[in-house]
Amino acid sequence: MHLRLKMLLGVLVLIIAAMIMLPRMFSNEVEAPEEDPVAQEPVEEPEDQEFMDTYLFTTDYLNMRTGPGTEHEKIRTIPVGEKVHAIGYEDGWYLIEYNGQTGYSIGDYLSELLEEGEESPDSPEIEAPEETQEEDETGVTMKKIDGILLVNKTYGLPSDYYPDVDPEAKDKVDEMIRAARDEINMEIIAFSGFRSYNYQKKLYNSSVETDGEEYAQRYSAKPGHSEHQTGLAFDLGGQMKYWLEPEFADTEEGIWLAENAHRFGFILRYPEGKEHITGYAYEPWHFRYVGEDHARSIYEEKLTLEEYLLGE
Ligand code: DAL
Ligand code: ZN
Repeated sequence: MHLRLKMLLGVLVLIIAAMIMLPRMFSNEVEAPEEDPVAQEPVEEPEDQEFMDTYLFTTDYLNMRTGPGTEHEKIRTIPVGEKVHAIGYEDGWYLIEYNGQTGYSIGDYLSELLEEGEESPDSPEIEAPEETQEEDETGVTMKKIDGILLVNKTYGLPSDYYPDVDPEAKDKVDEMIRAARDEINMEIIAFSGFRSYNYQKKLYNSSVETDGEEYAQRYSAKPGHSEHQTGLAFDLGGQMKYWLEPEFADTEEGIWLAENAHRFGFILRYPEGKEHITGYAYEPWHFRYVGEDHARSIYEEKLTLEEYLLGE
């Protein structure tokens, strides 16, 4: 009985072993190889990501963020009228490069201002000859005296004059902004810098539409006649509520700029009471770079650029 039980158990063990082993021996299934990381599917790009290589202009003061949405961290702000390099687009947000930084900005305030058939933003700078004036085929007269480009209602710039922001003027405006921070603890912002001919055209037309021709003539230059097209002029402000407002003159920032801009090579280009000479109403926010020596003389002698250069 004991022996029979042992034999029975032995047979049972054999049967169980056979049940486990046989299906494996005759199976067609091949064991899956270990996953090859190279063959793995690439991480999917966002579906509506478009890659591009184009230039756009800020039509308003604009935030640059780390991602395409207002929930993402702000990297910096970009003044109005600045040219940015757009390298991608996603859900209404552009991936842009500006002043060596890359980030996302909302498309509502970015515009492709160059129209078909017009010069590209990289068109070479057209130099006005020193000490002379030159009339081009469209009748525009460019005037440069002592190395200073004079742009006003009489002297202008061709539509393809596109120097972009002047690097020296940009460095100086940044230095001035840092000095205001150190000296009066105020944050000054350059909210407008270089403007293309086309952008100025839009601004002028919109000023005529909003405020009428008479007002526009006093505050906005016609295309080809704005100092902003030289890349040497900046509109500066502190608190946003005073931007482009005559009251800016009485703010701490406005007073400091009027008294100190010459130290950095800038002049207050449209002073109060000089409209009959400059052609424009008082603009306590508009500063033009002429270099420190000229700026100091103009400041100390209380002159306009017209009086300084032309003796008018
Ligand atoms: N506001 C100045 C005159 C310009 O438009 O250039
Ligand atoms: Zn201005």
